[in-house]
Amino acid sequence: MATFTEPGLTFDDVLLVPAYSDLQPGDADTTTRLSRGISLRIPLVSAAMDTVTEARMAVAMARQGGVGILHRNLSIEDQANQADLVKRSEAGMVSNPVTCFPDATLADVERLCATYRISGVPVIDAQGVLVGIVTNRDMRYETDDSRPVREVMTPMPLITAPVGVSRDDAFQLLKQNKIEKLPLVDGQGRLRGLITVKDFTKSEQYPLATKDADGRLVVGAAIGVAGDAEGRARALVEAGVDVIIVDTAHGHSRGVADMVAKLKANSHVDVVGGNVATRAGAQLLIDAGVDGVKVGVGPGSICTTRVVAGVGAPQVTAIHEAGLACGPAGVPLIGDGGLQYSGDIVKAIAAGADTVMLGSLLAGCEESPGELIFINGKQYKSYRGMGSLGAVRNRERGGTSFSKDRYGQDSVTSEDKYIPEGVEGQVPFRGPLANVAYQLIGGLHQGMWYAGCRTIADMHERSELMPITAAGLKESHPHDIQMTVEAPNYSRR
Ligand code: XMP
Repeated sequence: MATFTEPGLTFDDVLLVPAYSDLQPGDADTTTRLSRGISLRIPLVSAAMDTVTEARMAVAMARQGGVGILHRNLSIEDQANQADLVKRSEAGMVSNPVTCFPDATLADVERLCATYRISGVPVIDAQGVLVGIVTNRDMRYETDDSRPVREVMTPMPLITAPVGVSRDDAFQLLKQNKIEKLPLVDGQGRLRGLITVKDFTKSEQYPLATKDADGRLVVGAAIGVAGDAEGRARALVEAGVDVIIVDTAHGHSRGVADMVAKLKANSHVDVVGGNVATRAGAQLLIDAGVDGVKVGVGPGSICTTRVVAGVGAPQVTAIHEAGLACGPAGVPLIGDGGLQYSGDIVKAIAAGADTVMLGSLLAGCEESPGELIFINGKQYKSYRGMGSLGAVRNRERGGTSFSKDRYGQDSVTSEDKYIPEGVEGQVPFRGPLANVAYQLIGGLHQGMWYAGCRTIADMHERSELMPITAAGLKESHPHDIQMTVEAPNYSRR
């Protein structure tokens, strides 16, 4: 016979208690940690879902000061390519620049530029020696894209700098010579890196950006435990990812703990494990050596785990319980799923989360994968659970699913034998991530002001959550009014 626990609480069940404040909302400092080794200026993480995070979203998230976790419903090679795209997107110095050979065609170069969203590439010979550069300027008036690069490029001698040039000296060289790209070469003239003016302007534009020690944007990627999960992790680490997330629906399991331990033993990147919803689940992963714990069993907007399997824990209680293990161990906690409004970020952090992972709140952004859908004149984007039939069918990728093992069903081969734990749908289009993140973080600042907390650590130590009744929740939302205009941070769900 089962035992009974205390009732669990979720976001709509609680409110932060207002407390004495000697700060303004703008004074709140949202700096936090994703994992033991990765610090973020804003506590937002985009979900490892195929309608939320590919390279474009990951770049946008890191620029805002958060981080994106590349989903794993794609081949190892494709996922590693996505990571590569992020790592090359913006950097203090690109240590491994995209290049071409002199006999490539202009069509080849145009493809490279479109893929990597760059405006030109250095040209090297078979020994890696820099022989020229081909940029938009060289190609602008060319009508025949079958011409070889050697006929169109600006050949050596070019303005170059030695490896190790300081940021200031590099900027002066770019400025004095009115150039946009500065190749870095070694004593033998071999190309060793590239500094671009875009990276200087981006630094000014995105002062909070999450960057690694080389000035590249930080990115994470999800893996599972089945199939060639270790090979996937290796390929991702080679592509430069900063954190691997062992992402399953049931992290309180031997498979996840073993995978965490193996990865920790064999790689230098941070390893996050999940998902769990209890103190014991978090402790298992902490004991396995994890650098971060992801919490959430069934709170997601597209999840049906709780109704299909009858299992889960309301998210505020789950975060709080897992936090009882993570806090003393100094292991950051990611509250994953179930957030509908910016106030839920405030509540998740108060309950013990260091960051929150968002799916539905970000799936409508311009940067999420997928096209705009028009319905009755309104714009939407599709959003689906990774355990939904659509994700398992994965038509976009030729019917191959890499997400079934998240739900322990990797051995299921036919669709009618699959037990879905998620649904497919759509969310309203919300425009660029920058605007969405601005509202979400703005709400967090307001919440920290009301709670009298300057930092995330203060939130953990001092904030108080009050359980409320259904009447309290009704009072919280607009009531006794016919809403005619939606606010940018509020709409009825
Ligand atoms: P939100 O509420 O932000 O939740 O949309 C995103 C999180 O939901 C999880 N997820 C799923 N859970 N079945 C589930 O039970 C699914 O099909 C599914 N897909 C995603 C995941 O943790 C994600 O970050």
